[in-house]
Amino acid sequence: MKKNFAKKIWIIDFGSQYTQLITRKTRELGYSSEIISLDECHKRFTEGSLPECLVLSGGPQSVFEDTFDYSFIFKNAKLPVLGICYGMQLLGKYFGGVVEKGIIGEYGNADIHFTNNFKIPSTPTNMSVWMSHSDHVSKVPADFDVIMESSNKLVSGIRHQKLPIMGLQFHPEVEHSKHGKSILNYFYAKVANLTKDWNASEMLEEAFDMVKEVGDKKVLCAFSGGVDSLVAATLSHKILGDNLHCFFVDNGLLRTQDYIHIEKLKKNTTLNIEVIDAKDDFLNALKGQSDPEVKRKTIGKMFIEIFEKKVKEYETSHKIHFEYLLQGTLYPDVIESSPHINGGKSVTIKSHHNVGGLPERMKLKLLEPLRHLFKDEVREMGMSLNLKRDWVYRHPFPGPGLGVRILGEITPKAIKACQDSDQILYEELMEAKLYHSTWQAFTVFLPVQTVGVKGDGRAYENVICLRMVNSSDGMTANWSHFPHEFLEVVSRRITNEVAGITRVVYDITSKPPGTIEWE
Ligand code: XMP
Repeated sequence: MKKNFAKKIWIIDFGSQYTQLITRKTRELGYSSEIISLDECHKRFTEGSLPECLVLSGGPQSVFEDTFDYSFIFKNAKLPVLGICYGMQLLGKYFGGVVEKGIIGEYGNADIHFTNNFKIPSTPTNMSVWMSHSDHVSKVPADFDVIMESSNKLVSGIRHQKLPIMGLQFHPEVEHSKHGKSILNYFYAKVANLTKDWNASEMLEEAFDMVKEVGDKKVLCAFSGGVDSLVAATLSHKILGDNLHCFFVDNGLLRTQDYIHIEKLKKNTTLNIEVIDAKDDFLNALKGQSDPEVKRKTIGKMFIEIFEKKVKEYETSHKIHFEYLLQGTLYPDVIESSPHINGGKSVTIKSHHNVGGLPERMKLKLLEPLRHLFKDEVREMGMSLNLKRDWVYRHPFPGPGLGVRILGEITPKAIKACQDSDQILYEELMEAKLYHSTWQAFTVFLPVQTVGVKGDGRAYENVICLRMVNSSDGMTANWSHFPHEFLEVVSRRITNEVAGITRVVYDITSKPPGTIEWE
């Protein structure tokens, strides 16, 4: 059994907003990689654990204020190192070059070209890349060659003459750098001489190994039927069999499509899924609450109470003692909630209750076989586990469900309007074959009343808002530019068929500043 989950390439996070993208691009190229903090990297080196390659990410700080001693990295002469943006400036400074404070800086698209006969196969000599810096390497260290230069005559790429070390002033990991991926590939394959080790079967093997560590213990899975919990449960079930119990909590805040979906999963998979009807508990707890954070916290707390009750019930009535909690936690959740990586500096915009799990008093160990993976990798894994495409490519649905899509107080009437309108939108997206061209599409219930005409009478009823966004990771998003004809059909059906709704509006806010969910 492969017990070592260490990755080939470590990416030191200096705080760039693009660090996650370096990991993703690196994995897409077939190399395992993970993000770590500088402190963690230093600790591992001190303990004698080294990667096969190191990437120094970009970051907002300036090398003039950085007093850290990086010799622990460079005393390993054979270790390949790629410095990106801030990382390249660190290389410049460490090896005795000159870094200058920028006066104008380069932000956004910039044109660069290869110099000194440097070439990368199938990559043009001139290309457009994404820059984001003001400091720059003005004098290259003695042992380095300039391999790329910008049209502003600034050094854009350097390479050590003897050691496997390279620096890039631009960001090869972002889409705007058109040939960035082939430059990264060149570094890993030709400079660092790495062999590929990351593919669907490797991912699956690693996840299986994590599950195997559970042995013959009983595992409880908080199962939502979404992509992450479905993939986590399916792969775990292959190892754990009947020791895995999936609990699906019906909190009354689910969409009509979720009820249909869970029935399909119960019928068409071998998973042991128990539906817990907790609708009344949630609605009672939420009565009179309209503050978004209070609502989120109430829902999170109620989930915990329901699970605790269930665990006790299993212990007393079935003599089953759960030792593990299986969760579909993904890598971005791990990174964002890790003080190790972000220094605990991130601001809480919304309280997500899917990370951290159940309280310590329950003494459940966490089993998170997807904790090293990105969403697209989980989907790939789902396909390799022969799950249906429609199940694997469902839109994300937040843990608090319609609780964050019904603004203000949650009432049975609002839930019904939100469910019925959402189902209409879903059906029409499927009919128009637009479902998979959007990241998320849903309806939001607005507790404001507007005047309308229904039949021959005056109506004074609520508003439904359509929220449809395109995104690649949920961190930024743009509203989906769907055909007017489609919007018209959806609007007409909602005002005709959904009780209490006289008006439909379309949210055309991108993220930022608007978040995807309304609460
Ligand atoms: P926001 O609204 O923060 O959402 O732009 C970004 C993505 O996260 C989803 N989301 C959640 N997912 N638990 C979840 O599992 C939550 O509490 C939660 N809140 C938002 C949201 O649907 C979008 O995909």
